[in-house]
Amino acid sequence: MAGKHWKAIETHQVKRLVELFESEPDRLSRLSFEIAGIYFDWSKTHLDAALMEAFGQLTKAMGLDAAKEALFTGGIVNPSEGRPAEHVAERGNGAPEAVDLAAVRRQRTRALVDAIEGGAFGDITGVLHIGIGGSVLGPALLVDALGRRRAGYKVRFLSNIDGEAFDEAVRDLDPATTLVVVASKTFATLETLANMSAALDWLVAAGVADPLGQLVAVTAAPESAVEAGIDESRVLQFADGIGGRYSLWSAVGVSAALALGLNAFEELLEGAAEMDRHFRFAPAAENVPVIAAFADRFYVSRGAQTRAVFAYDERLRLVPSYLQQLEMESNGKSVTADGKPLEQSSAPVTWGGTGTDSQHAVFQLLHQGMVQVPVEFVAVSESDNAQDDNHHRLLLLNAFAQGAALMHGRPSDDPQRSDPGNRPSATILLDQLDARSLGALIAFYEHRTLANAVLLGLNPFDQFGVEFGKDMARRLAEGEDTAELDASTKALIERAGV
Ligand code: F6P
Repeated sequence: MAGKHWKAIETHQVKRLVELFESEPDRLSRLSFEIAGIYFDWSKTHLDAALMEAFGQLTKAMGLDAAKEALFTGGIVNPSEGRPAEHVAERGNGAPEAVDLAAVRRQRTRALVDAIEGGAFGDITGVLHIGIGGSVLGPALLVDALGRRRAGYKVRFLSNIDGEAFDEAVRDLDPATTLVVVASKTFATLETLANMSAALDWLVAAGVADPLGQLVAVTAAPESAVEAGIDESRVLQFADGIGGRYSLWSAVGVSAALALGLNAFEELLEGAAEMDRHFRFAPAAENVPVIAAFADRFYVSRGAQTRAVFAYDERLRLVPSYLQQLEMESNGKSVTADGKPLEQSSAPVTWGGTGTDSQHAVFQLLHQGMVQVPVEFVAVSESDNAQDDNHHRLLLLNAFAQGAALMHGRPSDDPQRSDPGNRPSATILLDQLDARSLGALIAFYEHRTLANAVLLGLNPFDQFGVEFGKDMARRLAEGEDTAELDASTKALIERAGV
């Protein structure tokens, strides 16, 4: 059944973008939406009435409504690990027991934050958050986006095993007054455990008498943290059903709660909850994460192998790298949830950068290159920096101009100067950047990722592909028999003397 709809999608003759606006007077109103103070404009994509119909039929054939209900009622949406996905429960939208447990655990996080602010850990001036992947990308995005104008703790993030990253992270931190937060769902990730050990050494070297007393663990494996010597009163637990790349809403976000304040963290959850309700109840033709997934699937079906996201706001500069893990670790797969080879290509490579810098690096290819790259602009109407309004006006006009130029193109008799146009883009414009709008934005991307997965029939909540590389690194690090290794890898190990 789905094949019939994919066939219609893959064979549909689309008009040029400018012609779509001419032939569909209501195009903008049909493909632009406002939710939680965010304006979503998908009208500069090739989604026309026929494609919307075909994708609408595909959502029925693939059971999108049932998948959404399973998500919001604690169904096993991660069949390979036999788990629900409980990130929505963190913002009050999951199975009742999961919502209740999340609320109890959030109280523990609040109590710990209050204790820290009340001096229970001494005079804390800085936080060293240690984690990698989903255990750092979310909190780092929140603090980088929302924490710029706030006084209070200096929060530094450490993820890479590279000692240079450690030295950089602690450069302006005072070990005597730094709280170390170790976030790891498994509490078994090599980089994180090595950095935790280095952080404890750093505290000891500075004369901290009880280094573990300045350390908080955040994990779904509390027994492992206690085994590592961390008192259980300083272990914050989150649910096994929360995937790393979906975990910032849980205690993994404690460093952000410290940096931004507990009220801001609640507003973040409220913004996400508003997007949850939209995703759960809006019909497909008015459902923004679903429509974004339609466009994603359409361009991949027409050969796009990447999608580019440009934050036209320095405060959102970490969004592209956050999305890389969310989208590529969720949907960078080749088999369906029941193990059959995928019939359509799955996740494209997510990449991007910050505008306007990217205009001076990659936009040449986007305008005149030979690869199809759907572009996404994320911007904020209101600035809050100290510069005059003209800076922000020019920033926004550059974003809007790039989208228009990609669509219109500019024919020229000189082939070197001819812009083909008809190149799609979508624009997300936040009225203002605050915890609520950022929460809604991140939840939009989470649900878009799920909608893509459902249209493809794959499980977005496991990540077995990362295990092999990790295991190989462990074997090399432990000097396991390298006899069967290839000559290239052996030569590299030998030359580097490692
Ligand atoms: O990249 C693989 C992965 O398991 C991610 O899914 C996860 O966010 C990251 O490693 C860190 O894992 P943990 O939180 O268990 O340390």
